[in-house]
Amino acid sequence: MDHFLYKDGALHAEGVPVAEIVAAVGSPVYVYSTATLLRHFRLFDEALKGLDHVVCFAMKAASNQAILKTLAQAGAGMDVVSGGEYARAKAAGVPGDKIVFSGVGKTREEMRAALLGGIRQFNLESEPEMERLNEVALSLGLRAPVTVRVNPDVDAKTHAKIATGKSENKFGIPIARAREVYAHAARLPGLDVVGIDVHIGSQLTDLEPFRMAYRKVAELTEVLRADGHDIRRLDLGGGLGIPYTRSNEAPPLPLQWGEVIREEVGHLGVEVEIEPGRLIAGNAGILVSEVVYVKSGEGRNFLILDAAMNDLVRPAMYDAHHDIIPVVEPETGVEQAPIDIVGPVCESGDTFAKQRVMPPLVEGDLVAFRSAGAYGAVMASEYNTRPLVPEVLVNGDQFAVIRARPSFDEIINRDSIPEWL
Ligand code: LLP
Repeated sequence: MDHFLYKDGALHAEGVPVAEIVAAVGSPVYVYSTATLLRHFRLFDEALKGLDHVVCFAMKAASNQAILKTLAQAGAGMDVVSGGEYARAKAAGVPGDKIVFSGVGKTREEMRAALLGGIRQFNLESEPEMERLNEVALSLGLRAPVTVRVNPDVDAKTHAKIATGKSENKFGIPIARAREVYAHAARLPGLDVVGIDVHIGSQLTDLEPFRMAYRKVAELTEVLRADGHDIRRLDLGGGLGIPYTRSNEAPPLPLQWGEVIREEVGHLGVEVEIEPGRLIAGNAGILVSEVVYVKSGEGRNFLILDAAMNDLVRPAMYDAHHDIIPVVEPETGVEQAPIDIVGPVCESGDTFAKQRVMPPLVEGDLVAFRSAGAYGAVMASEYNTRPLVPEVLVNGDQFAVIRARPSFDEIINRDSIPEWL
């Protein structure tokens, strides 16, 4: 469920007509709904009711500080994967003790910054990383709270580029080696081992892989406790999928995911952390774009938009489907026809949809890419010197620009010319 609906024939973001936002900010533009963000966050919070828990938003999905602040004010923590994300979360007012630091390649500088600024825990992914963090913590006279991310060798049944829980993936330590690795961690005086971490992939639409992974983590908890480790916290990652089409998909709900968590780890008396990203932000954002041309080709027609693969890379990168709908509601019974929907970038990969059945559209019409709130704006680039798309946050009947479109001068002036030129 989201808050992008037609009212009186016009697409609205909550109470604001999308066309009004475009009139004020220009096209293309990312538009987010506060009500949808909060609704989705609360679904997770409620799904874990009764368990000692924290919902840490995986801010890689959508990292604008206004979004982070909206969620943080509702009680969310953050899952960060870089020094930049850590700094952003802090700048948005998230306290260090609600920030978990994930990722396979944390640098010394990132570790230092997080230790000094405050951190809930580091999710460690290898022994060299463990040694490094131990060194950094000791050099600061601190002890770093840590979990170790285990790789449960479970098939998440999702797109290969976003599956992370099989033994061939670069993530975590093999669960079979966990006892050895935890024994090693316990010998390092700069580390305080607090728990176990697992994350098996993204856009999962089946609960079974989660169940299998959590069951293995629960077994490991008992084993590690018997070895003398005080396992008091489980970070169960994110990954719950969202419906990308409005028609037939019905992935499991946070409540059902919560049930699996309860069933598999509820008896352990641990604090539970989860790191959802996509399900909180995905359907809380749209990308609005204008039709620049309608071009007739041989045997097929093209809708050329002012948004491109650099603005929303998911279709080019993962063959992802995004529903694309006109901002003016099509009249019922209007004849629809297949058309290729493309951007202006000079590559054939700059194709959003092939032979998508659409109502008739003409130059100047606006369309909205649905489900673009997660892994949309954050994955954008300035390829072809196209300015990053601005972001707008709607709240009821008000909206605000939360990131302005940079001018060409701002982009160009970031280059510096060596003196010999
Ligand atoms: N925790 C960790 C350790 C992760 O690596 C990820 C996502 C998450 C949590 C959040 O997963 P989510 O709840 O959003 O599924 N760019 C890709 C998705 C990459 C996901 C990377 N890791 C896409 O556009 O589909």
